[in-house]
Amino acid sequence: MPDTLTKLAYQTFQQGKSYFGLMHKAVSTQVLNLVAPPSIEQKRKAKPLSLELIQTIQKRMAEVLEADWQDVEKGVYPASLVFDNPWEDFFRYYPVMWFDMPEMWQRVNAKRYQEFDAGVETEGLPSYYVQNFHHQTNGYLTDTSANLYDLQVEILFNGTADPMRRRILAPLKEGLKAFSDVLPSQIKVLDVACGTGRTLRNIRGMLPKASLYGVDLSAAYLRKANQLLSQFEGTLPQLVQGNAEELPYLDNYFHAVTSVFLFHELPPQARQNVINEAFRVVKPGGTFIICDSIQMSDSPELAPAMEGFPETFHEPYYRHYMTDDLVARLKEAGFGEVSEQVHFMSKYLIARKPGVVAPEVTKVATGIAIE
Ligand SMILES: C[S@@+](CC[C@H](N)C(=O)[O-])C[C@H]1O[C@@H](n2cnc3c(N)ncnc32)[C@H](O)[C@@H]1O
Repeated sequence: MPDTLTKLAYQTFQQGKSYFGLMHKAVSTQVLNLVAPPSIEQKRKAKPLSLELIQTIQKRMAEVLEADWQDVEKGVYPASLVFDNPWEDFFRYYPVMWFDMPEMWQRVNAKRYQEFDAGVETEGLPSYYVQNFHHQTNGYLTDTSANLYDLQVEILFNGTADPMRRRILAPLKEGLKAFSDVLPSQIKVLDVACGTGRTLRNIRGMLPKASLYGVDLSAAYLRKANQLLSQFEGTLPQLVQGNAEELPYLDNYFHAVTSVFLFHELPPQARQNVINEAFRVVKPGGTFIICDSIQMSDSPELAPAMEGFPETFHEPYYRHYMTDDLVARLKEAGFGEVSEQVHFMSKYLIARKPGVVAPEVTKVATGIAIE
């Protein structure tokens, strides 16, 4: 049972991350104002968040951290998971982030959103994907981008990216109860758009024996995921480069499918295609869990924060995402019950594929569809 001291250590750890994120943003804004002062147009457009809104955000942030800790207390996942932090990467890549910033600011000022270095392979990728999402240099397509990504997300969310990702773990554990007759090592969980593997790392912390799978379009992010996931003991998750709209797996293969922070980066039809694919590959009785940004319907009080997001962070599909009916999309794909949760800046959709949970025959398979 985790004790009061461990909880205090967790709170201090999170507070440190939060202050660091705030400090980084304050300093980088000052530097940006010095090197590239905002134009009159930019000043006119900038709408600082109201004090009330900042207080709402702070309250929700405290709540997600408390929920994270509560799950440790309930034994959903071990305390060690909430202290997991890529320290080595932090010290190695934080300076690199600063070196990357001038180039990024230049692109932002020049409104260049699809700029890639010569030699970065974009052929064969969906056109919607060939973007400098979050103004990242070379989008998702280089090792440097993959090395900086986790750090950038942690700073963006003031250290709460992982606590938000971990909100999928309790519903995942709950959903897997439908397969209580299956050996822990035979449980198969797929993370769609796994990126650098942070979600898989969190799932591994909760399910040390399960067979984990990850798919992503970025070879560079998968390389990073492979590096970070191999630090954990146990079987290495199987990572495959592929489009989530055409998952390279057999029908009814996984006991659960998760996807974190993907849907706001997809155009509407792609969102539906990914949901249809998740439905196809999850077993009857299995669960599909989406974690993504909050939407207008669940968090109207945070509308000013959401409205500024697409432009500030170059998220071209976010505006449509804000009001998209994801529950209707899940139902259209065939999912039955869908429940929703909201934690801090994220929402969660937990959908179950209807049907009888079939008794399982143990067999060795890769799950990858072979034509
Ligand atoms: C915002 S990142 C989220 C990554 C990770 N899930 C996380 O929690 O940090 C979006 C990820 O989706 C991947 N992605 C975007 N569109 C995709 C698609 N159609 N198929 C597979 N991966 C995709 C990107 O390469 C990137 O790794």
